[in-house]
Amino acid sequence: LPWVMDTSPVIISLLFPTQVIEKNVDPEWTLLTFLRKNWTLFTKYACGRGGCGACTVMVSKNDPVFKKIRHFSVTACLVPICSLYGAAVTTVEGIGSIKTRLHPVQERIAKSHGTQCGFCTPGMVMSMYTLLRNHPQPSEEQLMEALGGNLCRCTGYRPILESGRTFCVESSGCQQKGTGKCCLDRGENASSPLGGKNDICTKLFAKEEFQPLDPTQELVFPPELLRMAENPEKRTLTFYGERVTWISPGTLKDLLELKVKHPEAPLILGNTSLGPAMKSEGRFHPILLSPARISELTRVTETSEGLTIGAGCSLAQMKDVLAERISKLPEEKTQTYRALLKHLKSLAGPQIRNMASLGGHIISRHSYSDLNPILAVGSATLNLTSAEGTRQIPLNEYFLAGLASADLKPEEILESVHIPHSRKWEFVSAFRQAQCQQNALPHVNASMRVLFKEGTDSVEHLSIAYGGVGAATVSAHKRWDELMLDEACRLLLDEVSLPGSAPGGRVEFKRTLVVSFLFKFYLEVLQELKKLVKLVSDSRRHPDISDRFLSALEDFPVAIPQGVQTYQSVDPHQPPRDPVGRPIMHLSGLKHATGEAIFCDDIPVVDKELFMVLVTSSRAHAKIISIDFSEALKLPGVLDVVTAEDVPGTNGAEDDKLLAVDEVLCVGQVICAVVAETDVQAKRAVEMIKITYEDLEPAIFTIQDAVKHNSFLCPEKKLEQGNIEEAFEKVDQIVEGEVHVGGQEHFYMETQRVLVIPKTEDKELDIFVSTQDPAHVQKTVSSTLNIPINRITCHVKRVGGGFGGKVGRPAALGAIAAVGAIKTGRPIRLVLDREDDMLITGGRHPLFGKYKVGFMNSGRIKALDIECYINGGCTLDDSELVTEFLILKLENAYKIRNLRFRGRACMTNLPSNTAFRGFGFPQGTLVTESCITAVAAKCGLLPEKIREKNMYKTVDKTIYKQAFSPETLIRCWNECLDKSSFHSRRIQVEEFNKKNYWKKKGISIIPMKFSVGFAATSYHQAAALVHIYTDGSVLVTHGGNELGQGIHTKMLQVASRELKIPMSYMHICETSTATVPNTIATAASIGADVNGRAVQNACQILLKRLEPIIKKNPEGTWEDWIEAAFEQRISLSATGYFRGYKAFMDWDRGEGDPFPYYVYGAACSEVEIDCLTGAHKKIRTDIVMDACCSLNPAIDIGQIEGSFIQGMGLYTTEELKYSPEGVLYSRSPDEYKIPTITDVPEEFNVSLLPSSQTPLTIYSSKGLGESGMFLGSSVFFAIADAVAAVRTERDIAENFIVQSPATPEWVRMACADRFTDMIPRDDPKTFKPWSIPIA
Ligand SMILES: Cc1cc2nc3c(=O)[nH]c(=O)nc-3n(C[C@H](O)[C@H](O)[C@H](O)COP(=O)(O)OP(=O)(O)OC[C@H]3O[C@@H](n4cnc5c(N)ncnc54)[C@H](O)[C@@H]3O)c2cc1C
Ligand code: FES
Ligand code: FES
Repeated sequence: LPWVMDTSPVIISLLFPTQVIEKNVDPEWTLLTFLRKNWTLFTKYACGRGGCGACTVMVSKNDPVFKKIRHFSVTACLVPICSLYGAAVTTVEGIGSIKTRLHPVQERIAKSHGTQCGFCTPGMVMSMYTLLRNHPQPSEEQLMEALGGNLCRCTGYRPILESGRTFCVESSGCQQKGTGKCCLDRGENASSPLGGKNDICTKLFAKEEFQPLDPTQELVFPPELLRMAENPEKRTLTFYGERVTWISPGTLKDLLELKVKHPEAPLILGNTSLGPAMKSEGRFHPILLSPARISELTRVTETSEGLTIGAGCSLAQMKDVLAERISKLPEEKTQTYRALLKHLKSLAGPQIRNMASLGGHIISRHSYSDLNPILAVGSATLNLTSAEGTRQIPLNEYFLAGLASADLKPEEILESVHIPHSRKWEFVSAFRQAQCQQNALPHVNASMRVLFKEGTDSVEHLSIAYGGVGAATVSAHKRWDELMLDEACRLLLDEVSLPGSAPGGRVEFKRTLVVSFLFKFYLEVLQELKKLVKLVSDSRRHPDISDRFLSALEDFPVAIPQGVQTYQSVDPHQPPRDPVGRPIMHLSGLKHATGEAIFCDDIPVVDKELFMVLVTSSRAHAKIISIDFSEALKLPGVLDVVTAEDVPGTNGAEDDKLLAVDEVLCVGQVICAVVAETDVQAKRAVEMIKITYEDLEPAIFTIQDAVKHNSFLCPEKKLEQGNIEEAFEKVDQIVEGEVHVGGQEHFYMETQRVLVIPKTEDKELDIFVSTQDPAHVQKTVSSTLNIPINRITCHVKRVGGGFGGKVGRPAALGAIAAVGAIKTGRPIRLVLDREDDMLITGGRHPLFGKYKVGFMNSGRIKALDIECYINGGCTLDDSELVTEFLILKLENAYKIRNLRFRGRACMTNLPSNTAFRGFGFPQGTLVTESCITAVAAKCGLLPEKIREKNMYKTVDKTIYKQAFSPETLIRCWNECLDKSSFHSRRIQVEEFNKKNYWKKKGISIIPMKFSVGFAATSYHQAAALVHIYTDGSVLVTHGGNELGQGIHTKMLQVASRELKIPMSYMHICETSTATVPNTIATAASIGADVNGRAVQNACQILLKRLEPIIKKNPEGTWEDWIEAAFEQRISLSATGYFRGYKAFMDWDRGEGDPFPYYVYGAACSEVEIDCLTGAHKKIRTDIVMDACCSLNPAIDIGQIEGSFIQGMGLYTTEELKYSPEGVLYSRSPDEYKIPTITDVPEEFNVSLLPSSQTPLTIYSSKGLGESGMFLGSSVFFAIADAVAAVRTERDIAENFIVQSPATPEWVRMACADRFTDMIPRDDPKTFKPWSIPIA
């Protein structure tokens, strides 16, 4: 049913259950604001700039180009509400709900375990739904493309893809592609939908249960809108807002007149360029001209000369037009179109391509533009129109360079773009290299065109245009040979004079790409030429390119991941109603998928609520001279500014203040906070606050500087065993090296959020907060406000991802918000924007490690000395603990008799780093594993041999003297070798490498011994509260928080087994400090473990109380027993308690039993790298993990896959960039690349080791939240293996510094060749770099 919004004279229609008239539409509102604020709908906000897809909704509109209704996905955070004139919008609520009927997309994503925290899920659902509206039976390629603009930080994408695949045309291939085996051969899955013979299952959900997709049931396009589209209005529509006026003319003539009247007003189309600029650069336009209704702008015409595309066409429409033309025209005419199409496939995600217009793209003239360089070399013409008439300008090098001479006149608009057909003897190609393959802005792109004199290899014209490094064109009149190549390379490097300090950094990499792309083009064209003409037979100038060198040509295609998940089925004697060990769907899965799952900021606005925005320091180390907020307070809606002086109790710790006093220690430190009626008002006020500073010395950012200044947060942590000095004397060889590991941003999809509601009585406060540790929030608020803890109740319904980032930080934010609430007496909502979240909250500690390793020529390591420094930032936070854990875990799976591990946390003027999944292990152990590869290289042995030789083999003691048995470690290793067919693939990799010069493969297998838990008994205690109500329903509460890891699902599985009733009787409402007090943070992989024991205890107490009643009436029902118990005055409520695993560490003696148990695992990964661009593709990963008796294999496999992909991000693409002044540049998904769906290995197999037991834990299960993270390093070492193959072949194997992440930049520069030798290098003393390395 349509929802009609009418601000005379506007009609916008959205699909909702009821028809509504909306009178006041402010042009400054985005669709997302409107949905969330005005309609209390739950489309999610996660980045606000089109980069994550969390806010995806479907728009349906009449398409004048293809003359049909076009359904397309958009990111609601960038869609101006006024742009929706005549459009229908479908949100996640519109397609189905738990209360009415689930849409099959919603059902399947949940039941396929495609949701963990669920924050990305509504967006995923809408991307998939839109695909199905257009293609009810899509291909797998279409599915991948549809999901390319949606980020998920939890799942690792595999299950999401799996759910979408159930709609696809049945794929014929077996999932175990490439293994030579087939799951059907083994007769697996034969006995039951989720069971299997031999106790091994490979199915996590029952596809047969899914309701079918019935396209006839979908909502129809509203007839009113259809009528509107058929009879378009011609009059100008105007929306007046508080500050902005939106004018939408109905004719081109009116638009041109308006442009004369308002020459400074931008045309607004997709808003994908204007929107982000208005948000982060503070650009403001009081008048916006919307040409969306001008039919001339969406016209597409074709002549024998070429194609003219209206500037108002979206990039998606352009893509369709080009694809259609390419399919019809001869290849020689479509060279430019093919190049455009290639880049249109990887430019942003589908949502942005659906919104962004060709005109907006061209006119924005972004230096990174993927299309403008192609249009330039393709000799495109811009057809400009103004009230005075029309003119044509070429889209040439002057336009690309942004020269004013190529500017449009203020009253002009771009009407269309003419792209000529290419000709015979003309070749056009496009290249791009970004941090990752898809949905990432390019570091450098290029387009190249060459025209030959007919029938020859004589170049008539060669033009080359680059994006990302400035424009360049080369005209050459030469023959197409190596001489020409060399000369052109030199010319290009002269012309593309990228200074050492160029914004965006990566200067040498970019210079190398400039010539590497040309080389690729050279080879590509040579191949084509050879097909076309028998070249002048001068074999010296045109030697045949051997197959070995042809590997340079192909880009890595986007592949559809396949894989198998294997786990042990439950004992066949286990009662069917007992859910333990079964792949039960996440309790909130369906609600995630329908948008009915409520997150902190989804709580509707409460009475008198105010919004808080934080004011942060712009200096790294400075004295605060003054803060002037007088102008801010004058703004409408602004109530107050909260400073340190307003804190009634303790303002944080002496060296870690909540609100800065006198001095700031980093850029991003919170100084004060504005409180206003709305978020918009508060944000405007923040801009008006003037803070003056006096810089203080020193400002330290790097680990090296911290060491130089002796700037540390805590004393050194050290463990030692054997006699290291003596051992070094006796070894055959010694290697020393350095390892640099960059930090990592949590990038939980739900940013930090809190809502504080002061109550009228007794200083009570209710705090709704997204945290892993509500008790810590409660305690911090108590000390900040100086009121007892018992007045404060913290509620956590669910958290949209935490990964360690919501252990400490929410307490500070909650306390600041609470000060505001007390000061104003009104509820305060604080929602961090993505930029602020990334700036303020810190992340994983960057690490610098030095090692010295002594070994025998056989590869046996005799002595290992590792010294690690982590960059802790400006306050202690968890840095001391991270250092301790790092040192404790550094030995990983290896028994080395003589060891010395030392660690220090550096104090720098950066935001404080904090807990992050793996807690030091993923960084530290990369140093250990790098030692292994260094030893292997020296011994001339394979790294896996060195690993095997030095691994723990028998019951032994760790460096800190904790006894353990490595039996399962060895089993995981052997099983991983076997399942991955490692040895035969190692040979195949070597074969491939011999045959290919410009592409190399690498393979690695990594063992893991990961300790779970905290190193203190008190941190393992847990409690639960279980109530049984008189109708028999059960309410379970426990101390763990639902972060997406499925803890609540597991707790109900435990309660169900213990009480012997189905899970449907049970409910978990929230985690609250009022029901379970003094809880420990849900962290360290141990949440389900310890809370499970507490829930078990509570249930056992209750069952014991019920036993006499059950005995008396054994045939009775649960309800009968509960009724009887009530009658007999038996308490139906019990607290369960678990005192915790014993754990301690004596650092003075270097001994202890710090960890309750270990998780073992192994991962094998294979990659292929492109030596000319630094790109890589992940061919295959096999993980074997020892989960013992998994409580829920679907959840546990989800944790393994999700953490593996997160680890892969850490080690390959996630790169934080800081300015020399300590300002974090990477503050959005544009600049910080977490893995996308196209980063998942092409084949991704996970198996849980069968028949493994651990008597210590609940039902012999293990906590798997963090361990998979480190296994992501198998991708890193596979890349390093490929790079090593390159360097060995080129005889440059030495001096190879290990650096994580292994970005395209690192890979390209490590694969040194004649192009890296050719580029100019700057003397570092002669320029100020754009960014500095901090590890
Ligand atoms: C998340 C994200 C990822 C992206 N990734 C990439 C990428 O990988 N590669 C890449 O090249 N680009 C990328 N972009 C940029 C994107 O291509 C451009 O933002 C987009 O094409 C601009 O089109 P628009 O319609 O949204 O322009 P708008 O934002 O609506 O307008 C932009 C400007 O163009 C002017 N304008 C628009 N139409 C006309 C006209 N007809 N005549 C005169 N002036 C006009 C407006 O006045 C305005 O100043 C990305 C953008 C986002 C948000
Ligand atoms: S919130 Fe809209 S794309 Fe991220
Ligand atoms: S489930 Fe995708 S972000 Fe959490």
